[in-house]
Amino acid sequence: MNFVVTAGPTREHLDPVRFLSNPSTGKMGFAVAAEAAKRGHDVTLVAGPVTLKTPMGVARVDVVSARDMLAAVKDALCKSGAEPTVVVSTAAVADWRPAKCATKKLKKHQMSGTLKLVRNPDILKTVTGCLKVGFAAETDNVLAEASRKCREKGLSFIVANDVTEKGSGFGTDTNRVTFVYPDGTLRRHPLMTKRRVAGAILDSISELASD
Ligand code: PMT
Repeated sequence: MNFVVTAGPTREHLDPVRFLSNPSTGKMGFAVAAEAAKRGHDVTLVAGPVTLKTPMGVARVDVVSARDMLAAVKDALCKSGAEPTVVVSTAAVADWRPAKCATKKLKKHQMSGTLKLVRNPDILKTVTGCLKVGFAAETDNVLAEASRKCREKGLSFIVANDVTEKGSGFGTDTNRVTFVYPDGTLRRHPLMTKRRVAGAILDSISELASD
């Protein structure tokens, strides 16, 4: 199968030296890309600004903003040909961006105390014609929020993680996740390395693809 995996944060600039972002390091997404390549799949990894090395056998496209990420995902899907394609969206995509981005560094006197924001496109909602797996980074009502996102984004399942839990979420080498399916089925997993979480995701995708 063809895999398109998104990873890392996006940066939404308000000028060349300032941006809105989040603490994603790309570890979760790179683990998914590495595991998919190891299992013989064709993998395109669309990565926000992170410092990780590209896993062996993976084609990598580096992007900065959510709009760049959407364009790169669409491009990868166009090139994926007739084989079934799976999009695994581990990226922490910024939902909002500054309404304007200055081409030169803003001086203090040019800035007010209010920043006007506009919505970014939702990458997972926009792409169609493929099997879609999302992630939900939550701090409360974890499973309810994950379930809502799974249905709203038309996903095959969503991987819920509580980013306030020790050893889970941003920057860690481990994660404790629950797979949430559109019919309400839950698959709870213990704390595992992100590579093992990636393996469990790949196993579930194989099951769905062979149905
Ligand atoms: O990178 P690490 O440091 O290893 O951290 C891993 C992680 C915490 C980033 C990862 O495990 C995780 O939870 N990723 C999803 C983070 C997130 O943005 O979740 P969300 O609940 O805001 O978004 C839900 C889903 O929609 C995600 O699959 C997201 O990629 C996708 N999305 C969100 C916004 C948007 N504009 N377009 C999208 O496609």
